[in-house]
Amino acid sequence: MFDLIVSGATLTDGRRGMDIAVLDGKIAAVEPGITAPATRRIDAAGHLVSPPFVDCHFHMDATLSLGMPRMNQSGTLLEGIALWGELKPQLTHDGLVERALRYCDLAVSQGLLAIRSHVDISDPRLLTVEAMLDVRERVKPYLDLQLVAFPQDGYFRSDGAIAALTRALDMGVDVVGGIPHFERTMADGAASVAALCRIAAERGLPVDMHCDESDDPLSRHVETLAAETVRHGLQGRVAGSHLTSMHSMDTYYVSKLIPLMHEADLQVIANPLINITLQGRHDGYPKRRGQTRVPELMAAGLNVAFGHDCVMDPWYSLGSGDMLEVASMGLHVGQMTSRDGIRACFDAVTVNAARAMGLTEYGIAPGHRADMVILQATDPIEAIRLRATRLAVVRGGTVISETPARRSALSLPGRPATVDPAEYAPKSD
Ligand code: FE2
Repeated sequence: MFDLIVSGATLTDGRRGMDIAVLDGKIAAVEPGITAPATRRIDAAGHLVSPPFVDCHFHMDATLSLGMPRMNQSGTLLEGIALWGELKPQLTHDGLVERALRYCDLAVSQGLLAIRSHVDISDPRLLTVEAMLDVRERVKPYLDLQLVAFPQDGYFRSDGAIAALTRALDMGVDVVGGIPHFERTMADGAASVAALCRIAAERGLPVDMHCDESDDPLSRHVETLAAETVRHGLQGRVAGSHLTSMHSMDTYYVSKLIPLMHEADLQVIANPLINITLQGRHDGYPKRRGQTRVPELMAAGLNVAFGHDCVMDPWYSLGSGDMLEVASMGLHVGQMTSRDGIRACFDAVTVNAARAMGLTEYGIAPGHRADMVILQATDPIEAIRLRATRLAVVRGGTVISETPARRSALSLPGRPATVDPAEYAPKSD
């Protein structure tokens, strides 16, 4: 007797007609034709059943603060940072928690069940850290929230950041952050990378830095990040977030850099929605796209994931917690329109992001926690194309969110019709 059977599923690897049996919160079997009884049975009816979406780069402390205390008029990164600085003195514990929990509700409804959030530690009160630790505990039953100690105003550049980062880690923040391109000099930036990797090695923690979020082709902190990763034996546990300067770098230099990143097994995290809007702001025409070299890094064997970064905050007034929107923007900006390219972008918001976060037991396989999303789509490509409805979201074998299928009843002259967007398949694949 199983607790749940999701039957007739199409999996992300293309297997069709699969039944997923769940017992005691874990996946017990994935095979066709499971006839054993179950407390609950959901007919997936050929729909895609995916592991949950994962957002490996977000700012939970700033989310849903759009308009507080005013809008970002220029839309630039620097006005966003200044605006966040204006907002910080007005933040309260309860306000931070309330906005974060509301965002997590939205995330769960979209099948997004794991988030890595950077938390600004620049304010010595560490109000944001206390609030996000509170949120991490409250959402634990249904969402994996990892926190990064993020010195938004610079590790060396901001008074008190060195001590605040240490205190944040002592309080239980999970990951060491940084922002080397925002330090006063390139030398300070490189020194911050070295210092922060040393702290991570000493504490046995992962690293995730905002790194080279710049259009300056000579912003090369990713090189130092890779070298320090190898020096401290942190391979696979260090993420470079944004890496937008790579878009503008000399290609010959990149031909040396990518193997160095590969040697360090650096986790690459691009944030397509944010960087397509923030980068290239100083350009005339042509304007640079400001996304790191996603297809080239994937082809070189690096793990590349996409993050949402921001939703309705000082830096980005849009966003909806929908990782399919993130994947769609990533593939457009990276021109990854081949069938394999689109599938790779689905991976960038699921399995690759889970790997970047170091999640274990991720994926629809026996023995793993029974987390999954049933989508109104037949495959990952269609899921991205349609921003497919998340019909059901399952966490630990329990259905925690359900959304009706999207269907339209048309009343056209001489042509009554029903439109299910998932019924428009390509003629071949
Ligand atoms: Fe960020």
